[in-house]
Amino acid sequence: MKQNTIYTRRSIRKFQDKPVSREIIEAVIQAGSAAPSAKNRQPWKCIVLGNHSKEEFLSLMEKGIYREENECAMLPKSRSGLPDAKNTLRIMREAPVLIVIINTNGKSPFTALDTDERFTEICDTLSIGAFIENMLLQAQEFGLGTLWIANTCFAYEELTAYLAMQGQLIGAVALGYADECPERRPRKELGDIMEFMLQ
Ligand SMILES: Cc1cc2nc3c(=O)[nH]c(=O)nc-3n(C[C@H](O)[C@H](O)[C@H](O)COP(=O)(O)O)c2cc1C
Repeated sequence: MKQNTIYTRRSIRKFQDKPVSREIIEAVIQAGSAAPSAKNRQPWKCIVLGNHSKEEFLSLMEKGIYREENECAMLPKSRSGLPDAKNTLRIMREAPVLIVIINTNGKSPFTALDTDERFTEICDTLSIGAFIENMLLQAQEFGLGTLWIANTCFAYEELTAYLAMQGQLIGAVALGYADECPERRPRKELGDIMEFMLQ
């Protein structure tokens, strides 16, 4: 990996209307699978959505956001995130490729976990974070832009029913050729995120 790939990656929210080859999509997912995972469980699975399935997925996401706003909210404390979710939905519609990410060992976030299960889920979620970051960095090296998406949470039940999947819906990655060059977004200072305890 080029030294500056980590530092030049940006979340991309405008994509060119240009297809991405299957070969590139596969290489990006392959790079994801090189990530470390707790006990090497590799708890990840990707579903690449195109054409009709992408449209259906996104219309269900829209339905879920509408339900959260106007009917029965499953995430009432996250209501302030709905405008952002609508914006994410618009970006997902424009993105040429949508990769849905699943934790194959995970349970619905609406079911209770005991403490052992919670630690296991934390480890699997961290592993999937590494998987996704690897994909984003590989895509960056191929000259593609990405957006890591968690706003699928507002339509969790609608989307998991549509995918008829086992496991937990983690989110999605939008992939395509960037049509913008965003400035670096602010980061905390090193001194604010780091502490040495050397005694
Ligand atoms: C777990 C996670 C979930 C995210 N979900 C969304 C999302 O649903 N919609 C969106 O527009 N951006 C989403 N982002 C992108 C962040 O907003 C972005 O990474 C952050 O603002 C820093 O910008 P940068 O990626 O350009 O450095 C998500 C990022 C992460 C890591």
